[in-house]
Amino acid sequence: MKKKELLVRYSEAEDLGHLPPDEQSLVAASREMTTKAYAPYSTFYVGAAVLLANGETIVGSNQENGAYPSGLCAERVAVFAASAMFPGMPMVKIAISARSKRIEMEEPVSPCGACRQVMLEYEALQKGPIKMLLSKESGRILVIEKVSDLLPLAFLGGRLKKEEA
Ligand code: THU
Repeated sequence: MKKKELLVRYSEAEDLGHLPPDEQSLVAASREMTTKAYAPYSTFYVGAAVLLANGETIVGSNQENGAYPSGLCAERVAVFAASAMFPGMPMVKIAISARSKRIEMEEPVSPCGACRQVMLEYEALQKGPIKMLLSKESGRILVIEKVSDLLPLAFLGGRLKKEEA
């Protein structure tokens, strides 16, 4: 059997000041959105901000529910809203940030597998990268050039689509 390796490439900015102005605003918007989360169960507050090709910024925060699996992550709230409001409009960048009441966050937040899958579908559809900016309340920001970098060997369901009648 042949051994294979996958490489994950990303960059790290020391803080907001090391990013270009549009990315500073996007990260700031995602941090602001953590204050709008409805997360009484986890007390883990996540914010997301998506920059669209038309210049609009669509935001989201995590929304929990007493029936736990009914809640939704901030990323999917934002990305689904963006696609609902501006269908087909390419998503250029997404900033994601989190803060917690209970735990000390050492690392910037990293999106869950389900959110990676959802973002990847839009990335594949638009045939262009969605750049990701991952952070917490302050400090370092991880910069990932495209969603597919965070989901290697992905399942791309788009190929299952039937021809439109
Ligand atoms: N959560 C997000 O909104 N995004 C992530 O990337 C990770 C997790 C939410 C889901 C749930 O409301 C809380 O954080 C704890 O998992």
